[in-house]
Amino acid sequence: MNATDYPATTASAAPGAGALEENLWPATAALDPDGVLRVGGVRVDTLAARFGTPAYILDEDDFRARCAAWRRSFADCDVYYAGKAFLCRAVARWVAEEGLHLDVCTGGELAVARSVAFPPERLLFHGNNKSVAELRAALAYGVGRIVVDSFAEIDRLGALAAEAGVRQRVLIRVTPGVEAHTHHYVSTGQEDQKFGFSLAGGAAAEAVERVLVAPGLQLVGLHAHIGSQIFDTAGFGLAAHRMVGLLARVRDTHDLELPELDLGGGLGIAYTGEDAPLDVDDVAERLLAVVGKECAAAGLAVPRLAVEPGRAIAGPTTVTLYEVGTVKELPGLRTFVSVDGGMSDNIRTALYDARYTARLVSRPGAATPGVVTIVGRHCESGDVVAHDVPLPVDVRPGDLVAVPASGAYHRSMASNYNHVARPPVVAVRDGAARVIVRRETEEDLLRLDTDPAAEPTPTVAPGTAAASSAQAR
Ligand code: LLP
Repeated sequence: MNATDYPATTASAAPGAGALEENLWPATAALDPDGVLRVGGVRVDTLAARFGTPAYILDEDDFRARCAAWRRSFADCDVYYAGKAFLCRAVARWVAEEGLHLDVCTGGELAVARSVAFPPERLLFHGNNKSVAELRAALAYGVGRIVVDSFAEIDRLGALAAEAGVRQRVLIRVTPGVEAHTHHYVSTGQEDQKFGFSLAGGAAAEAVERVLVAPGLQLVGLHAHIGSQIFDTAGFGLAAHRMVGLLARVRDTHDLELPELDLGGGLGIAYTGEDAPLDVDDVAERLLAVVGKECAAAGLAVPRLAVEPGRAIAGPTTVTLYEVGTVKELPGLRTFVSVDGGMSDNIRTALYDARYTARLVSRPGAATPGVVTIVGRHCESGDVVAHDVPLPVDVRPGDLVAVPASGAYHRSMASNYNHVARPPVVAVRDGAARVIVRRETEEDLLRLDTDPAAEPTPTVAPGTAAASSAQAR
């Protein structure tokens, strides 16, 4: 089944609805003649009735197709899906089935991979402060590569690997000094930040020396990740150029040609019609060309390349489905449309001032669009889902509204703020829907909250210092 098997019914949609904007909606999204959105062949009104709202609706075919496209574009390279974008067991399985590798950056993400028996040699472990327990878990599972990020970690991992009697393959995370043109919270190539070893400052060269003499470590390559939500190939090209320069220096200094170069993730996606994402094929062509040319100039064999897309695979596959609860018109100011989710299921608007679009998806609505601000249900005014979006003027309570491009860094960054239960992730495919992450319940929320009344109260012996300070309080 692929995207084209779903007839695009946008042409027959009612006048107010308009066609689905290109690039913004999951590949199988289409509008039925009555204005209802369908994803994966399932109508969203059916989904809302069955699974409730809010809910993340994930187009499985689109996810798999994106994995396959990355593999095709980066043939003979290793494509690591960055699990931080969105990870659950079903997704880990799809990633494995589609032949991708997986980048994990915590013990929790590793646990998901382990729980589906993800092939350990296809795992890569990131993080600037991995704990000893996490490193031990990675070694025990036989994770293919660990990306070391600090001198302390080189010592720590070297000792743990030696103790475990293994030789762990590692990459060194390098800060190439490239400013990616993106939000500064997600920009990681420039010098002044917590990740990696500075190339310009010489720390990267020193890290190479230290790893080479660490007993339990085998240096296989270098890694750089310059940032996220990037729309310009220049930064990737410059980083690749500098990293090959470092490979050449390693060869000159240590008479060693490192076989691997990982250039990270970061490809931007469209959140609104104003974003123009790069084409994966073009990025692949550009990176391979830069690396090929620079290696030829330096007399190096071309290393095996790796990339780590997260957002570009997961982001466009998902829409968040909300129900409208109230519409508040402030004459001369603004119309607020409140939905039943908000900053607990999408923190990106508040955190990065991210822009989103949205549309009415349960009926066509009036032909005339009004400009509204979609807000959530949380107790603060920064709880905005989408600023200034065109929704039909007659939007009203009970309507379903969908926000596209919400597959990456939405569920994975969701919180329980205000004791709101996190929404489910529902995978749709071939006209069928299945829950791959269930909705939290109030019981889930209460499970972690240990009620002192139900527990034995800690006893304090009378007359002790602790007892008198307790009395003083
Ligand atoms: N590799 C490394 C080492 C990373 O740190 C990241 C993302 C990726 C790959 C994947 O990058 P992507 O292809 O998804 O851009 N929460 C932010 C994004 C944080 C990105 C963190 N690292 C957001 O919502 O925009």
